[in-house]
Amino acid sequence: MTADFSFKVLATDGNARRGEISMPRGVVRTPAFMPVGTGGTVKAMYMDQVRGVGADIILGNTYHLMLRPGAERVARQGGLHDFARWPWPILTDSGGFQVMSLSKLRKLNEQGVTFRSHIDGAAYEMSPERSIEIQGLLDSDIQMQLDECVALPAKPTEIERAMELSLRWADRCKTAFGDQPGKAMFGIVQGGDMPDLRVRSAQALKAMELKGYAVGGLAVGEPQQVMLDMLEVTCPELPQEKPRYLMGVGTPDDILKSVMRGIDMFDCVMPTRAGRHGLAYTRRGKINLRNARHADDHRPLDEESDCPAARDYSRAYLHHLVKSQEALGAMLLTWNNLSYYQKLMADIREAISAGALTERAATISEAWARGDL
Ligand code: GUN
Repeated sequence: MTADFSFKVLATDGNARRGEISMPRGVVRTPAFMPVGTGGTVKAMYMDQVRGVGADIILGNTYHLMLRPGAERVARQGGLHDFARWPWPILTDSGGFQVMSLSKLRKLNEQGVTFRSHIDGAAYEMSPERSIEIQGLLDSDIQMQLDECVALPAKPTEIERAMELSLRWADRCKTAFGDQPGKAMFGIVQGGDMPDLRVRSAQALKAMELKGYAVGGLAVGEPQQVMLDMLEVTCPELPQEKPRYLMGVGTPDDILKSVMRGIDMFDCVMPTRAGRHGLAYTRRGKINLRNARHADDHRPLDEESDCPAARDYSRAYLHHLVKSQEALGAMLLTWNNLSYYQKLMADIREAISAGALTERAATISEAWARGDL
């Protein structure tokens, strides 16, 4: 652990990197998966369990926390780490993406965005400066610039306008963030499915000399190959010595293929959300516990797992919990799924060090593609 924010590449395998982000609240082993803790909780999990499965960092959302309980209130309670009982690193998304997907009556201009809360209809304003102020009140370790992400497919002129606006907002966020040694503010590459715009966005952000870079505006309706093509043009434009974060991605297969193109950090609601909907992720594929064929199945999800949720409970019992909509069903399946994701990341890190990522990726993707078992 260090007083400053730093990133070190420890090993490479092709374009994949294994590394370490160090900051005062802890070390993040990369490639890393960040469980989503939108409103100050990783849904259906105790923080001890989140830590126990191997998470080094979790994600929080500016948008949700500003609406409820309010950023100033979290600050009065000593910041998000203390409030939620997670003393390790937290990355917060800036709100841009969630305002666009969740709020009502949005109006966006050069200054920022005004919107109404999806909870009670109250009016709010969010500028790049206010987003950074809120992320500071939350005491977030890695803060994201305010950006505009367009859903694909979109018109080229629209993609370009949003990308250029996001660059101007990156600059304002950088100024608002200033110099905070133990923390970082990441820029976000936009540019939709247009390679030339992606390159321009990455180059302009690189020139701002930020401490890390995210790739946004992907997994928003385009085929996987388009996402991978965008990573192939974007990653080489970003500095080697800074962490790269692919926002909102993805399936185990998406993660593997993105790591192989140079991505270091991921977040996705998939493992937690799927867990609350009766879906278990295992090293042999997905298991839908709603299915009646599990009703008399005495086997656990994965007898070799070191996660109690995967190893100690029968599929018959999990099926019963899910069918009865018991809270414990969501809790056990979320625990299993996050454990699977963290194990996947640990395997990926190990494979990079061994120079064996390509072979290891083929085995993992094949099991995943076989699907329900
Ligand atoms: N989460 C997933 N995609 C995005 C994006 O493009 N921008 C932001 N801010 N968050 C995201």
